[in-house]
Amino acid sequence: MKGISGQLVVITGGARGLGLAIARRLEAEGARISLWDADAAALAQVAAADRQVVDVTDAASVEAALARTEAAHGPVGALVANAGITGPNHRLEDYPVDAWRRVIEVDLVGVFLSCRAVVPGMRARDAGRIVVIASVAGKEGNPMASAYSAAKAGVIGLTKSLGKELAETNVRVNCITPAAVETELFRQMAPEQVAWMKSKIPMGRFGLAEEVAEMAAFLCSDGVSFTTGAVFDCSGGRATY
Ligand SMILES: NC(=O)c1ccc[n+]([C@@H]2O[C@H](COP(=O)([O-])OP(=O)(O)OC[C@H]3O[C@@H](n4cnc5c(N)ncnc54)[C@H](O)[C@@H]3O)[C@@H](O)[C@H]2O)c1
Repeated sequence: MKGISGQLVVITGGARGLGLAIARRLEAEGARISLWDADAAALAQVAAADRQVVDVTDAASVEAALARTEAAHGPVGALVANAGITGPNHRLEDYPVDAWRRVIEVDLVGVFLSCRAVVPGMRARDAGRIVVIASVAGKEGNPMASAYSAAKAGVIGLTKSLGKELAETNVRVNCITPAAVETELFRQMAPEQVAWMKSKIPMGRFGLAEEVAEMAAFLCSDGVSFTTGAVFDCSGGRATY
């Protein structure tokens, strides 16, 4: 994949799951990886050129992480805004208000703050790639997951908006909408919810982290030149739009 070798790529929520798989795929292309995660213990167990303990819901924490990363490793070439939580599964009328707000904070505000930090440098250098990990829930709206579905629809809108704001630069902004992939994220959900998600996938199986990573790596590459603000589906045929 052209343009990845030597680039510094920040991956939020990169200590495990999809973020870590994306890191490994980009490393295979020669990228230098900066993993940003709130879980210091998990972060300490994984190797990367740079690791930062950061809470993506906290603007000061994100700005400080960027400053440390760039001081040590130079400018950020790409951001994969991946950190996310599902929150618990409840009907909307039963959803605890604090839990609903927390999902919006991590999954929507966290993406905003991560992009807000890196965009000025990318705009100034007239180069960059931003890949947002959204979800098929943001397109389809999963029952029992109104906060998650709303946050993921929100980052699809953010991707389209930011893509247009940067369209006259060489910064490209795209998002991926995966269906269910077996990661530790499943532990946050009710087993019935996980079974329901699998039943909705026409291919009849969960996705693999490597399949999402392949798409994310492509979206970090120079291969994506005439595409921005776009939504790339990775859902085993669930969302064919
Ligand atoms: N696994 C799936 O089925 C699936 C499907 C569609 C979309 N996604 C999305 O992919 C992304 C990654 O999911 P995953 O399955 O790898 O989950 P995961 O739980 O395995 O990993 C998420 C990581 O994000 C980190 N994180 C959580 N809150 C944070 C915060 N405030 N600041 C910094 N880091 C934080 C966690 O510590 C964790 O390491 C999420 O945005 C998720 O919504 C996952």
